[in-house]
This record gives sequence, structure tokens and C-alpha cells, in this order.
Amino acid sequence: MRIIVIGKNGQLGRSIQKIVNTDTKIDNNQSLNDFIFVGRADLDLSSESSISHYFGNNKFDIIINCAAFTQVDRAKQEAELANQINHLAVKQLASIASKEQARLIHISTDYVFDGESNKPYLETDTPNPINTYGKTKLAGEKALQKLMPMNALVIRTSWLYSEYGNNFVSDILKLGKERGELRVVSDQIGSPTYAADLADAILEIIEHKKFRDAGQTTQIYHYSNEGKASWYEFAREIFKIEKIECEVNPVTSQQYPTHAKRPRNTLMNKDKIIEVFNIKISNWKSSLNTCITILKKQQ
Ligand SMILES: NC(=O)c1ccc[n+]([C@@H]2O[C@H](COP(=O)([O-])OP(=O)(O)OC[C@H]3O[C@@H](n4cnc5c(N)ncnc54)[C@H](OP(=O)(O)O)[C@@H]3O)[C@@H](O)[C@H]2O)c1
Repeated sequence: MRIIVIGKNGQLGRSIQKIVNTDTKIDNNQSLNDFIFVGRADLDLSSESSISHYFGNNKFDIIINCAAFTQVDRAKQEAELANQINHLAVKQLASIASKEQARLIHISTDYVFDGESNKPYLETDTPNPINTYGKTKLAGEKALQKLMPMNALVIRTSWLYSEYGNNFVSDILKLGKERGELRVVSDQIGSPTYAADLADAILEIIEHKKFRDAGQTTQIYHYSNEGKASWYEFAREIFKIEKIECEVNPVTSQQYPTHAKRPRNTLMNKDKIIEVFNIKISNWKSSLNTCITILKKQQ
């Protein structure tokens, strides 16, 4: 299988690369799987011609799209670019995958929901995004489903962090070491998700018979780590693990305004991915521990 991973410099793209390059289990499959990792310089999702040119010259059995316009607060000001990357490029990838009879795995977000539900969202619940980022990601999902009723898979995830780049964990660690006190939002609830765990799940899925067998209807799956937290609880857990003496004070979303509105409660039900692909999911606190241990080793 020739497999392309788009977004090689992002958190998830780098997490997949790390496993593919280091895991002996995956190594054994290397004779069967040929992974190609591409970044913006190889394939620019903001350019229709870059996408058609790239796939005109390169053929794949599986396309994994980890790239996205992910700056939630900038998406409104840069709506056209966000729409091109999160919606139109996904539509184009689905059209290419469909023509080439390739499988497509696309990553989406809990922010397709409005966050007003009091129970974890099912894949069948109606999305209702409340910000531009969520709207463009939902448009991408819909275009994909329309063009590719078979052989694609959308995985919605939430609150991704990793040992790579800037994310909530690295930002909070930095701030905690600089300041004695922090205010963190406590009225938004979700499931922090370690990108390495999602990367593992994706690599398990592509080996699974239910993914490999041709003629599967396109499906949406929810994936996050187990458990729930507010951003405030997430920050406190980071400091607890790292033994950082920084006072964390809870504030409401109203007291901490951001350019883009965030949904209040985006917990997702993960029964479907667990049952169909037999995926084991860790609790967010244990995965956070793993990530922080790796971050420390990198220092
Ligand atoms: N981060 C979260 O909290 C979160 C939550 C829910 C869902 N998700 C979804 O999960 C997926 C992975 O997220 P992530 O956190 O790994 O994202 P990330 O770290 O922000 O990485 C996104 C990647 O997309 C690439 N990209 C952006 N514009 C591009 C373009 N025009 N052409 C080609 N590549 C482009 C970026 O390339 P450069 O490195 O060159 O900029 C970057 O490597 C995304 O679909 C995201 O929507 C993320």
C-alpha cells in the first residue's frame, strides 16, 4: 500500500511519522506499506493547481489528511483561506481519491457541534458549528461524504496536544514557569487528546480488515482520549504532573473573550470507533503524563 500523509509538520502528522519511523510493529509492515509524508512545500492545500499537479504525478492507495487551517481565532478574518484548506481542498482530495479508487482518511473536529448538548455527541447528532473554523471543517466533511459515499473515513477529534509545536500543554507549561498566577476558562468542557494516541489509532485502523476491504460506506467516527476536563482542570493537571507552583484561577468564557466563540461542551461518544476497530483508548490524564515525560526528555 502506498500511503500519503498530508500535514507532515503538524502535531498529528509528526506523531504518525514518529510511530512509522520508530515502531518495530510498523517496521515489519514496511514491506507492505510505503509511507510518504508531505508538507505545504510539497503540496499546498490553498492552491487547487498544486493539489491537481501533485496527484497528477503521484498515486496512492490511502490518503491521510492531517493538514488543516487550525487557528480557530484567525479563521473569521481569513475565512476564504480557511474555507479553501478545510473545505475546498478536502472536496478536491475526495474527488481525486474517488477517481483513483484510493481510501481517504480525513480528520475533523468536535467544533462542528454547538456544544449545547448535555450528553456526549454521537456521530449521528446534528452538527451546528458556532465559529468559522467549525463551519469550514463541517463543509469539508459534507463535501467529502457527497463525493465519496464509499471508501472514506472522517475522524472527529478534540483538544489535540503533543510534544510538537505550540499547543495548550506547551503554552501552559511556559506560562506557568514565567508567572505565579494564571486565569483559565472553566466553563468549556471537552476531552484533551494526545496526538500520539490518535496517530496510533489511525495506524491500527489502516491495518484493520474493516478498513482494508473494498466497498465500505463512508463513515464518521469520534476519537478523543477518555475522560473529560475543562481547560482550567487541564491546566491544573499539567502543573500537578510537572510540580509547578502556579496558582490557577477559573474564569468564565465571558471573562476571557476570544475572537472566535467556543462551544461549551463538546464531549464525544467513542463507542463506534471502539466497537468497529477494537481501539483501546487511554484516559487523558495518563496520556498527558506520557506527553510531559517526553517533553522533559527533549529539554
Ligand atoms: N489542534 C486541535 O486542538 C484540534 C482539535 C480538533 C481537531 N483537530 C483537527 O486535527 C487535525 C490535525 O490537527 P493538528 O493539531 O495536528 O494541526 P496543526 O498542528 O495545526 O497542523 C496543521 C498542519 O496543516 C498544514 N497546513 C496548513 N495550511 C496548509 C496548506 N495550505 N497546505 C498544506 N498544508 C497546510 C500546516 O502546515 P505548516 O506546518 O506548513 O503550517 C500544519 O502542518 C486537523 O484536521 C485539525 O482540524 C485539531
